[in-house]
Amino acid sequence: MCGIVGYVGKHKAAPLILEGLKRLEYRGYDSAGIAVWQDGKFAVAKKTGRVANLEPEAAKLRLTGTYGMGHTRWATHGGVTDANAHPHVSSDGKIVLIHNGVIENYASMKKFLLGKGYTFKSETDTEVLCNLIAYHLAKEAEDPDESRFVSAVRKTLRHAEGTYGIVVMCSEMPGELVTARKGSPLILGIGDGESLVASDVAAIVSRTQSVVYLKDGEIAHLTPQRFAITTLTSGEVSPVIDKVTWSISDADLNGHAHFMEKEIFEQPAALENAMRGRFSEDGSTANFGGLNITAGEFRGFDRFQFCACGTALHACMVTEHLMERFARVPVECDYASEFRYRNMPLFRNTLFFVMSQSGETIDTLAAMREAKRKGYKVLAINNVVGSTIAREADGGIYQHVGHEVGVASTKAFTSQLLIGAMLSLYVARLRDMSFSEGVEIVQALKGSPELVRTALQQAEHIKGIAKRYAKYRDMLFLGRLSLYPIALEGALKLKEISYIHAEGYPAAEMKHGPIALVSEECPAVFFVSSGEMFNKVVSSMQEIKARKGKIIAVATADCKLPEGLADEVIPIPECHEAVLPIVATIPVQLLSYYVAVELGRDVDKPRNLAKSVTVE
Ligand code: M6R
Repeated sequence: MCGIVGYVGKHKAAPLILEGLKRLEYRGYDSAGIAVWQDGKFAVAKKTGRVANLEPEAAKLRLTGTYGMGHTRWATHGGVTDANAHPHVSSDGKIVLIHNGVIENYASMKKFLLGKGYTFKSETDTEVLCNLIAYHLAKEAEDPDESRFVSAVRKTLRHAEGTYGIVVMCSEMPGELVTARKGSPLILGIGDGESLVASDVAAIVSRTQSVVYLKDGEIAHLTPQRFAITTLTSGEVSPVIDKVTWSISDADLNGHAHFMEKEIFEQPAALENAMRGRFSEDGSTANFGGLNITAGEFRGFDRFQFCACGTALHACMVTEHLMERFARVPVECDYASEFRYRNMPLFRNTLFFVMSQSGETIDTLAAMREAKRKGYKVLAINNVVGSTIAREADGGIYQHVGHEVGVASTKAFTSQLLIGAMLSLYVARLRDMSFSEGVEIVQALKGSPELVRTALQQAEHIKGIAKRYAKYRDMLFLGRLSLYPIALEGALKLKEISYIHAEGYPAAEMKHGPIALVSEECPAVFFVSSGEMFNKVVSSMQEIKARKGKIIAVATADCKLPEGLADEVIPIPECHEAVLPIVATIPVQLLSYYVAVELGRDVDKPRNLAKSVTVE
């Protein structure tokens, strides 16, 4: 969603800010803006569309100042216009503000400010916040203990309901940035004679790897040489400086046409990284360092509850299947956005898991907080180290797959599947699973990178299929048991990057409605393995065929499909059920990617989407 970059130091701010904004493009946005302190006042440029549209506008201003901020906006309040883009300037010209999040009580604030003579150029809640800071600044007396600027921001935020990550500049204190968060991530970058702030490490990692993750309710005051953090309500806090472990090359294409393609092909290595050092010495189970729950405590839980959104929820659904099968423990999965409001009756001995690549998805975070509020332990499966979810969880498992840039999650998803399978194994081995069954699963999981490499060899074949099928406007994805969530994932992948309407269903459920869609115009992608469901899936395929629907079968190599049943077959290697969902995912990632490329879509920045959804 929206991106934030702020800079104060000795170098020209504009090029650093624009580069930072480009590094945040993957998060999704519809307009961009920049403000730099220049010749005793703020110079501001704002433009709808890409950062590339903003660059010529910024160039016209000949920005040389060393104090500035930039923003990419994903519209919430007010349409996509130049005026609504950030930064916003207060009507007295003293305060400049960028903001991620939503100020829910902005209407009453605006009414108050209009009464005081403040004027507005946009329809945004952000401009209201900006003017309220200006109002408090005008009233604030000099205080030996705190800068007037910080006090004005603090007073304003005490009135703000909703979520925010803000960066503020003030014409009375040029060279100082004030930044604060509640619900929207912010990271401070501590450089050599320079300070930075961003909503995502990607924007600042080229300048520094020393960062401080700001917590909810904290305000930071930055100058080139120093930074101080206080809370909204009380005194100074001692910050922890973390080291970012990935470098800027992780955010480069390295010869690929798109990040999605790069990340699809990175999956064998990503899986290796996700499981490295996580199997027991006797080779019969998985080990995780950060659970913060003993094996004995784990054994005491009677149920597991998973919450997540989008692709991550699909990974939870596969985990549910494997955990119930291997460990014989009841598992529930829920959309985090629904769970947080359902007030669902819960069993006392329930352990919670949330899954989130970014660790910033607002609904997942809220579901986690709701579970914690009710006294449940929550573990997080998460990729971004230091994310809000990772920090607030009682423990968890990092995915360790590096920076995922493509909006369409690929390597993060398969690593979530892998971790879900490892977790299922871990729980099963604490219960009834035998040593030899454990060893068999460990061996299967260790073999998953090689199986994925084999599946990736179908890329050219799948590209050919994509060319033939890109013309369709609807598609069904059908699978059973652990491959049903992969059908959901295939449909999600296709629609989010190609804008083709697609639906995922359990194959047998098709007869209860979706079959009405089937015709020559609506192909179906089936997932078929040689296991217990083979005959049933073949029957469903026949029902589609009888209605002239084209069939693409993603089938394990040992499946003997009736001659002529499938129009296209994408073979995948025969494998253990613990890794089957991982391997079956690869063809649908490639199919969606090549269809989107064929249609000329903006694969890494699909319309209306954001990499991490930080507003409700
Ligand atoms: O960062 P998260 O895993 O919490 O994100 C959840 C969803 O927003 C995300 O998986 C989304 O569905 C992806 N665009 C799917 O490719």
